[in-house]
Amino acid sequence: MKSDYIWMNGKLVPFKEAQVHVLAPGLHYGLGVFEGIRCYDTPQGPAVFRLREHIDRFEDSVLALGLLEMPYSVDELVIAVKETVRANGFRSCYIRPLLYMENGPLGLNLDAHHAGISISAWEWASLLGDEGVQNGVRLMVSSFTRLHPNVNLTKAKVSGNYVNSVMAKTLAVRLGFDEAVMLDPNGLVAECTGENLFLVRKGKIHTPSTATILEGITRDALITLACDAGIEVNESPISRDQLYIADEIFVCGTAAEVVPVTEVDFRKIGTGKIGPVTSHLQQAFQAVILGENHHSDEWFDLVN
Ligand SMILES: Cc1ncc(COP(=O)(O)O)c(C=O)c1O
Repeated sequence: MKSDYIWMNGKLVPFKEAQVHVLAPGLHYGLGVFEGIRCYDTPQGPAVFRLREHIDRFEDSVLALGLLEMPYSVDELVIAVKETVRANGFRSCYIRPLLYMENGPLGLNLDAHHAGISISAWEWASLLGDEGVQNGVRLMVSSFTRLHPNVNLTKAKVSGNYVNSVMAKTLAVRLGFDEAVMLDPNGLVAECTGENLFLVRKGKIHTPSTATILEGITRDALITLACDAGIEVNESPISRDQLYIADEIFVCGTAAEVVPVTEVDFRKIGTGKIGPVTSHLQQAFQAVILGENHHSDEWFDLVN
């Protein structure tokens, strides 16, 4: 996680100077909102994947958290993301916009706090590792329940929400798994700690509806790529045991990209190897990010 510059409240500041005070309310109460975006090295030069959609979601998250106003507009932040990538000279990188409550009294009234925004970028491999992307990962169903929408906001990437993800992920890794599947408060499959989930059964793709999950931008891209290939996608409730009897499972997200799942709770999924639908979508997604798919132009925003 290293770069030359971080964009902070309108200015590019040297990496070491991008700091907040220990009394920042954001640090105490998890009051922040973030995005995860990727820039890819395409034949046209560095290009950010679905940049405007990510910044739109960032704004939605801020509004869902309850701020009455964004400190910067979507247009300003789109420009700032590109400036950050350019200033660091990256051809491909992960980009992390963050809105944080930077000062104000340590009370619990959001309106008394002042928000800052930073945009960081660094070179980052897949969240679940290259080995996971190539050969698949092992999941466990977590004993931690995904957030109830009336307890916290599943549509918003609010920093404090991720305590729930951290608990589930840490337990899964300590138990020897790569990632955790989280069930929603009704006991149905929601998503993983930082990825959306799909299963394949009898040639059709199934994925939980957006009711209790983050509306993933990679998820949306994969649904489009599946439809392009004539594969039916159903958004429907999924039970834990539907995972066990799936022919294929894969998870996706900006940080992880498209990752096959070979095992859930010690049950081998399908043949225990990457299945044909997963493999097709991995390749189609790869073609998109290499600038070789007909969606590439529509989904990329050139940095220069
Ligand atoms: C909880 C959760 N679900 C799903 C995703 C995948 O979303 P996206 O594809 O927009 O990165 C993420 C990552 O942002 C996440 O944190």
